[in-house]
Amino acid sequence: MNSYGKLFTVTLFGESHGPSVGCVVDGVPAGTRLDMARIEADLARRAPGQGPWATPRKEADVPEILSGVLDGKATGAPIAAVFRNTNTRSGDYAEIPLRPGQADWTALLKYGGHDDRRGGGRFSGRLTAGLVFAGAIAKQLLAGKGVTVYGRAQAIAGETDGIDLAGGFESGGAHAAKEVLRCIAEKPFPAADEKEVLFLEKIIAAKDAGDSVGGVVEAVCFGLPPGTGEPFFGSVESRVAAMLFSVPAIKGVEFGRGFAIAALRGSEANDPILPTGYGKSFVSATNYNGGLLGGISSGMPVIVRAAIKPTASISLSQDTVDPKTGEAVKLKLEGRHDPCIVPRAVPVIEAGLAIALLDLLLEGGLF
Ligand SMILES: Cc1cc2nc3c(=O)[nH]c(=O)nc-3n(C[C@H](O)[C@H](O)[C@H](O)COP(=O)(O)O)c2cc1C
Repeated sequence: MNSYGKLFTVTLFGESHGPSVGCVVDGVPAGTRLDMARIEADLARRAPGQGPWATPRKEADVPEILSGVLDGKATGAPIAAVFRNTNTRSGDYAEIPLRPGQADWTALLKYGGHDDRRGGGRFSGRLTAGLVFAGAIAKQLLAGKGVTVYGRAQAIAGETDGIDLAGGFESGGAHAAKEVLRCIAEKPFPAADEKEVLFLEKIIAAKDAGDSVGGVVEAVCFGLPPGTGEPFFGSVESRVAAMLFSVPAIKGVEFGRGFAIAALRGSEANDPILPTGYGKSFVSATNYNGGLLGGISSGMPVIVRAAIKPTASISLSQDTVDPKTGEAVKLKLEGRHDPCIVPRAVPVIEAGLAIALLDLLLEGGLF
């Protein structure tokens, strides 16, 4: 489906090489002043053409707001925003065989060739512009309640940055960690200083070889009120995962220690609960459960990681099939593509987390 959420809802529309992509955001309280500078800053972090790690395709990504905002404030009506597609070269996509790793194969089976395949069409990463727009509004509403979300490229091409938030907050506590993560998130290349050069080298080496690399985005939410989330199907994990798995190229989502918790003993995995802390909640010495127990937030930072696959569109020769003839062919892609999606996906994952958490807060009456 094309919509997400119960009380803060987001609908994405458009195709990559159609007239525009965009979103409809419903549930923004009337009178909310929209910080357009912050929204545009987040969109710029996602936009193409920012550096050697991203496609050189330039797209302005400036939202045109069609409804729901008057004199800079939400009216209470749905907020509709469009992003005109100004920089398309659809000729690059005409008559090409099914691209391995793309949705061409499955979309052909589902839509019988009636979908708009140009530039990835409905499955393009460009659709995430609307998600970042909606997420920026969600982040603004959350920030008003002291809830913040920061993401970063935690791993690229198998190299990780070594920042272990689930392991605890010994060096100055969660507040210090928050400040470090805020600074990293705002960098043009959102990675820890110590690993920035290595990460870039990995991306550029793959690009020079006509290839691509993947990686991991970690996003952390600070200040989420304890008690957010519902048991079972409304668990924070299930709702956040449903959102993040909707983002193109995401092939894994994990919380806290994630899959690695399966190799621990209970004595290692149980986060010891301490009687003191800031606010009214307790704290835990470690955060292997990612701030979530029984699907409900403890008040500890919520830690989530999304695994992002290497970009499918590579310029090396690949084996595939021509759907018109059904014959095996070799495909060598031209066109402009990201050698690594991870840096541009950072604001997308932040947006997804913010939207999912805001919706849960509203549902739980905690907002
Ligand atoms: C911000 C962003 C940019 C993307 N750019 C590209 C790209 O340049 N080339 C590509 O093959 N895929 C790109 N993707 C991913 C594809 O859209 C995605 O892999 C494809 O639709 C298949 O879906 P799946 O990987 O989720 O199975 C991008 C994704 C995001 C979130």
